[in-house]
Amino acid sequence: MNAIPQTRFKDLPLKRQGKVRDIFDFEDTLLLVTTDRLSAFDVVLPDPIPDKGKVLNQISVFWFEKMADIVGNHLVTTDVDAYPEVCRPHRDALAKRSMLVKKADPLPVECIVRGYISGSGWKSYQKDGQVCGIQLPRGLKESDKLDAPLYTPSTKAEVGDHDINISFEHTVDILGRETAEKIRNLSLEIYNKGAALALEKGIIIADTKFEFGVLDGEIILIDEVLTPDSSRFWPLDDYAPGRGQKSFDKQAVRDWLVNSGWGKTPPAPELPQEVIDNTARTYKEIFTRLTGESL
Ligand SMILES: Nc1ncnc2c1ncn2[C@@H]1O[C@H](COP(=O)(O)OP(=O)(O)OP(=O)(O)O)[C@@H](O)[C@H]1O
Ligand SMILES: [Mg+2]
Repeated sequence: MNAIPQTRFKDLPLKRQGKVRDIFDFEDTLLLVTTDRLSAFDVVLPDPIPDKGKVLNQISVFWFEKMADIVGNHLVTTDVDAYPEVCRPHRDALAKRSMLVKKADPLPVECIVRGYISGSGWKSYQKDGQVCGIQLPRGLKESDKLDAPLYTPSTKAEVGDHDINISFEHTVDILGRETAEKIRNLSLEIYNKGAALALEKGIIIADTKFEFGVLDGEIILIDEVLTPDSSRFWPLDDYAPGRGQKSFDKQAVRDWLVNSGWGKTPPAPELPQEVIDNTARTYKEIFTRLTGESL
């Protein structure tokens, strides 16, 4: 297995390196490369998880196609032979873990949809019965399914900071009512369709984040879609409200890190091989369950 912790495409025009993805700029297009880096508790771990990047990239491709009847998207091709010429020497390294996309103007709002109450939403509800300013019924338990999914947008913070929750009306101020309503409605529609499909395969998508961009005056879906990195994936067969849920993808890593006594500040410790292997297997299982295909 050739795990890719970070890409080594020194001759390609690097635009930015996120925690997990490396992005190269080809003017009208971007090349998004999903590496095998894994972040846990917001820290990138020293060990890559073999083929995790392929799983994430292919999951996004799967969803872009499934959602195409709802909204257009940025995908141009995943065929390395159709990438800009300079990419060809890296054919094998790029295969399955990359996509060439249309460069859009990203809208400065992160579109978060929550179908279940968890994480920061649960914390906030315990304090004042609200999630991002939205009043919820009394008596909800941690991880309960919400009557209807909530749209809780945020703005992108500067690198390293946590995003800032904003109200829907605030997104209207930023984007204008038409665009704000459009991306809210699209987000809910995409989430509803994706979550229903995943549920049939034994996966709960508890919440997720979408990004939209504008290209030639049209709103399109960009970035990554309904992956375990942009969403909370829970295994349905372990689901029970009234407690936190297992993470479908990262639980083995989180458990091991917590037991290791690590203080959750960088640098993170190296993982035992067994945890790496288990996690790699879990990512592949998620992919197969969702798509019915193997990598
Ligand atoms: N088609 C596109 N056109 C323009 N920008 C895009 C497109 N698709 C994705 N992006 C941008 O590329 C960036 C992806 O970065 P990436 O996900 O690697 O890092 P991040 O989201 O800033 O941080 P993190 O590492 O926490 O995910 C985002 O800023 C996103 O808005
Ligand atoms: Mg991101």
